[in-house]
Amino acid sequence: MPLGHGTFLRRALRRPDLMGAPAPTGAALAAEIAAVVPDVGTPTVVELGAGTGALSDAIHARLVPGSRYVAVEVDAEFVAYLHRTRPWLEVLHGDAADLTTLLAEAGVGTVDAIISSLPWTLLPPAQRHSMLTAAAGTLGRDGVFATIITLTAIPDRVRDLVRCMEDRFTHVEATAPVWRNLPPARLYVCRGPRHAALRADEAS
Ligand SMILES: C[S@@+](CC[C@H](N)C(=O)[O-])C[C@H]1O[C@@H](n2cnc3c(N)ncnc32)[C@H](O)[C@@H]1O
Repeated sequence: MPLGHGTFLRRALRRPDLMGAPAPTGAALAAEIAAVVPDVGTPTVVELGAGTGALSDAIHARLVPGSRYVAVEVDAEFVAYLHRTRPWLEVLHGDAADLTTLLAEAGVGTVDAIISSLPWTLLPPAQRHSMLTAAAGTLGRDGVFATIITLTAIPDRVRDLVRCMEDRFTHVEATAPVWRNLPPARLYVCRGPRHAALRADEAS
């Protein structure tokens, strides 16, 4: 079994509500989502729900020295695992629902990319909406938000999530499914945070 799969499966059996998948994201999907991260300049990247770090290596490989890469993870066992296996990763132990506070406490200002594999469709709608508002609110005008959504997610909840993303971003794009993932999944990539455009208009 690849490194991290045992830890992941054990947590998925104990806390299926937090996980939304029985196995870490596979390499093909990890590469696809990492490609969303800017590969020029020194961006600030935030990963929501880092788990056993299945996306973290691919994101790390793309970033040049001087970039800032912060992962938010709610599960203490995963936090310990990440500290042990990826000492280069800045891990904030906390709930993505408290993102604004967590980032402020860590001295993170405007974020350039948010990469998420949170189980959005398992969340109560009000929480889903407020967490997405908080995530979008951290982004600068050219910021990007990308999330993995499995094809096993309940369609009504995916539709609600997509509406929610469209309310917060001017461009929302779904990629083709990656069938070689367990479970198969696709990305939603969102650009043009509406709040940032509003802020810029108000300032001009
Ligand atoms: C589907 S797993 C993905 C893990 C890893 N990124 C991957 O791609 O394999 C979801 C991760 O989100 C974490 N998580 C769930 N809800 C969270 C929350 N509210 N705040 C922070 N992390 C959360 C879980 O503990 C788990 O690590």
